[in-house]
Amino acid sequence: MKLTNLLVTNNLNEHSEAFAIDVLTGLSAQKKSIPAQYFYDDIGSELFQKISQHPDYYLTKTEFSIIEKAALHIPKMIQSSEIDIIELGAGDGHKSKLLIDGFLNNGCKVNFYPIDISEKAMQLLGENLSIDTNLAIHGVVADYFSGLNYLKKISNNKKLVLFLGSNIGNFNQQQSGDFLKKLWLTLNQSDHLLIGYDLKKEAHTLNKAYNDSDGLTKAFNMNLLNRMNQELGGHFDPAKFEHYGFYNPTIEAMESHLISLEKQDIYIDSLEKSFHFDAFEPVHLESSYKFTVAEINNLATHNGFKVVQHFSDVNDYFIDSLWQVHKDFAAE
Ligand code: AVJ
Repeated sequence: MKLTNLLVTNNLNEHSEAFAIDVLTGLSAQKKSIPAQYFYDDIGSELFQKISQHPDYYLTKTEFSIIEKAALHIPKMIQSSEIDIIELGAGDGHKSKLLIDGFLNNGCKVNFYPIDISEKAMQLLGENLSIDTNLAIHGVVADYFSGLNYLKKISNNKKLVLFLGSNIGNFNQQQSGDFLKKLWLTLNQSDHLLIGYDLKKEAHTLNKAYNDSDGLTKAFNMNLLNRMNQELGGHFDPAKFEHYGFYNPTIEAMESHLISLEKQDIYIDSLEKSFHFDAFEPVHLESSYKFTVAEINNLATHNGFKVVQHFSDVNDYFIDSLWQVHKDFAAE
């Protein structure tokens, strides 16, 4: 696997600086929060990997079953002799492998470009992909949009962008609109996008998925406290917080919070500041929005895409939606 790292070396500092700034901002706010992106250090990524295999977390295996079938159809719908498959966020490669093999089996040459800010995530991914003379793998270590702009410069091939796993669910409506418009700008007419959306369903099923019986989700959330302790010199005691995850029907999202179990002041060395927590004060960590088919259609049409097809599972738990970029052309 070829690897291009667009993050300059001193960007490492930028990374921990960004974490420090976001923790300062988030814990100083009236309603405390920490952005969900900070879940994914090495330990957090490993915990999410375990969550995704847990029986209570239906999302990953449901999407896998959808893509298994969709991979037989999508290459026929796109019809190309060579394609660039770009994955936003390097997963473990199991789902992307299905799609890549689908194209290879149709005699299509594939250039696979996973984009992820974690070089470690990239290495893990490489190990799970097949070796084939018609497959070139080129990992791009970068944020999504730097990676996409880089790829726009180095290749003119048709593109299929993958944004799987209901990662889009971490964005609220405004954020997902902004994200899709930015993505649209980096793409050409006739490029395609496959996005995974978790659908609305019984609250019981959702609550179970985000409160797994082995406490993996709890550990995933608590890991943020450890991360602040290690990277910022925080003095959090995880035993003094509880993880609370629940479906909020008012915003139609799963929410994760850490709730302080007592009144406490916690000093963070690198911020030279202590933060006050009232007894039972929550810190918001994540919202995972859930979708309807109508909402998915609206997201497509309002942001410059045409829905080609929705691929769903037997339970209607999840949709992988295939979109085509639609650009207007000025009259001559
Ligand atoms: C990786 C953002 C799709 O929201 O379901 C899993 C993360 N959080 N369990 C999700 C997550 C708690 C996951 N995403």
